[in-house]
Amino acid sequence: MLPYQDASLSVDERLDDLIPRMELPEKVGQMLQLDARGDLDDIVSAKRVGSILHCPPERMDRAIELASQTRLGIPLLTADDCIHGHSFWPGATIFPTQLAMACSWDADLVERAARATAVEVSATGIHWTFSPVLCIARDLRWGRVDETFGEDPVVLGELASAMVRGYQGDGLLDPTAILACAKHFAGYSETQGGRDASEADISRRKLRSWFLPPFERVAREGCRTFMLGYQSMDGVPITANSWLLDEVLKGEWGFTGTLITDWDNVGRMVYEQKVCADYVEAAAVAVRAGNDLVMTTPQFFEGAQEAVARGLLDESLIDAAVRRILRLKFELGLFEDARGPDLERQAAVIASPEHRELNLEVARRSLVLLTNDGTLPFAGGLAADASGRAVSDGPARSIAVIGPNADDPHSTLGDWAGASGQAPWMQPDGHPRETVQTVLDGFRAVAPSEWTVTYARGGDIQTLVEDPAGSHYPDGEPRPLMFSPAAVDDALLAEAVSAATSADLAVVVLGDTIQLTGEYKSTATLELQGAQVALLDAVVATGTPTVVVLVQGKPSTLPPSALEAAAIIEAFNPGMRGGQAVAELVLGLVEPTGRLPITIPRHVGQQPSYYNTVRGQHGNRYADLTQDPLFAFGEGLSYSAVSYSDLRVLDATVAPDGILRAEITVTNTGSRPSLETVQVYISDLVTSVTWADKELKAWRQVSVEPGASVAVALELPASACTLVTADGRRVVEPGDFELLVGRSSRDRDLLRAPFTVV
Ligand code: NOJ
Repeated sequence: MLPYQDASLSVDERLDDLIPRMELPEKVGQMLQLDARGDLDDIVSAKRVGSILHCPPERMDRAIELASQTRLGIPLLTADDCIHGHSFWPGATIFPTQLAMACSWDADLVERAARATAVEVSATGIHWTFSPVLCIARDLRWGRVDETFGEDPVVLGELASAMVRGYQGDGLLDPTAILACAKHFAGYSETQGGRDASEADISRRKLRSWFLPPFERVAREGCRTFMLGYQSMDGVPITANSWLLDEVLKGEWGFTGTLITDWDNVGRMVYEQKVCADYVEAAAVAVRAGNDLVMTTPQFFEGAQEAVARGLLDESLIDAAVRRILRLKFELGLFEDARGPDLERQAAVIASPEHRELNLEVARRSLVLLTNDGTLPFAGGLAADASGRAVSDGPARSIAVIGPNADDPHSTLGDWAGASGQAPWMQPDGHPRETVQTVLDGFRAVAPSEWTVTYARGGDIQTLVEDPAGSHYPDGEPRPLMFSPAAVDDALLAEAVSAATSADLAVVVLGDTIQLTGEYKSTATLELQGAQVALLDAVVATGTPTVVVLVQGKPSTLPPSALEAAAIIEAFNPGMRGGQAVAELVLGLVEPTGRLPITIPRHVGQQPSYYNTVRGQHGNRYADLTQDPLFAFGEGLSYSAVSYSDLRVLDATVAPDGILRAEITVTNTGSRPSLETVQVYISDLVTSVTWADKELKAWRQVSVEPGASVAVALELPASACTLVTADGRRVVEPGDFELLVGRSSRDRDLLRAPFTVV
């Protein structure tokens, strides 16, 4: 046995033995992550790659075996995008998307969802998930808003850290642990006009102010890997940004984990961003900037070797990167156990009853009730029997479930799941239909058995047409069909109107599609597309109380008829149990508890519309429209009436390293329990630089029973009261502040109390 194969030695001793044994091509191979749909003999045996991604399950054992047969037998690190569940594994538990889960504001719940995902994923031979996403939602036209935790850095940091804990379990030797990957480092979401992967117009100070803190938070949480974005900033592609990768991440934050580029980032510097003449130069630039693994740039293999030969790249930098990659493999114990697929564990854990139950709990907590004229909970609110079905002793009712997303399994799951397009070889038609509960399925499952549930699609969102650029890419791969808005279909519309007219309640499920969500799929507008507005107008005009349910990747702007409807429920992409959760909410089997982690604008022209914008502009409205959002960050109703009163700061002055203590009273004067998300903001009254007028700093969730008053104790370290100076330092500036506490970010929802940092 060679020393590096001896598990009784320390990781550093094993690395010290292994790296000098490696030849340059073996080292460069370790730095490559290639798509396992390619020729495995070339990828694993010839190039001896360190990592593969997107491996079809039937190839996993073979890939692992080929790696074990290479000269040094260095095991493979296997990776995939399992970002709200094991995305493409048929029937695996698909949770609500990150954006939907963020509506729960519940880190513990998010951690449990990530843990369940890790348990399922690890059984299939995958060691590493490219999750969580820490991009800040900005311009909502961007196609990847659904992948974010919304717009606030503190919410993002807390929920992402929870996900990291869930994935990485009890440490990397835990057989159910998978590596987490914080992405996309950093600033990728600051698009221009929402266009994906465009130049991000962002300064270092702006990065330090809002975009970097969540990443720093997960680095401290022990997130072992980071993935870069696609964007360039200030003329520098992220792949070449040694300031961010070396100085900030590894230097200032002491990150000792492993970096991976995004898809062909190294190649993009040659053919897209055109800052490198060839792959030799690009390989040298990427390694010198501090990248470790290079995703899907096969040319890096020759390019990096040539760069060393030409003296453009010092081999010691390659050694350092390889050391970081191999460290992960030793820490995962891969040299002792390649952690391949385990069929028995798969049968026991994938979509286990516990995971399905947890998924239902997450879905319930992810729904946000935006408006309600008192129609909900419907029929005064029902209770469930032991099987979970609602029982009613009142008259039998009829519910018409209407709309293009009422029975669409794909939009129920959202992007990175089933048929969303990234893994068409796995399940081109999506997850097995019976594993997904649409809203229609949900009502059929839980409405009282003597009630009637009818269905009418009512119209479509889109028709799919061939891309004008041609049916195939130049390399022969088929191009996906393209979105085109559907026209109103009079027959479908009439059917929906008739269903609504003869029902006691209409539930109209609208939103977007997986063709309008994701990478390369930014939208120019935020409107409900196709026949949807005509459908909603017509249903609301019947006079039947109408509940609008929004199943969508990101906020849409809403037509007046939505605001005239009895209620609006924001569901985003609520996952496999989402339809049941919606039905339970409408019938009052569960309480609405979600709060918006993102602002919903009135009009696309308000983009970007996040709450914590920097102070200072002429006026506060457009000439033709208010700047006030339709629904603000933090908003969400419960079925009860709850008031906040008596905000008290316990010490009016606090030292910069002290703790600010406060208390507020939350009273439930209604007749149903409420889970309140008590939001704590601060406002720094005078700042040396322009700064956000208010910033969320903490929140607490408290259950308040009907008739009860709860005194909620709040604590905030004064060190949270920072800003970033003009020269980029994060400091607390002593002086006068206000503590703002309440149910949402809206001024009218917040109580204020002064305090001073001395
Ligand atoms: C590109 C995406 O930007 C990234 O988020 C993903 O993890 C990789 N492709 C791998 O699929």
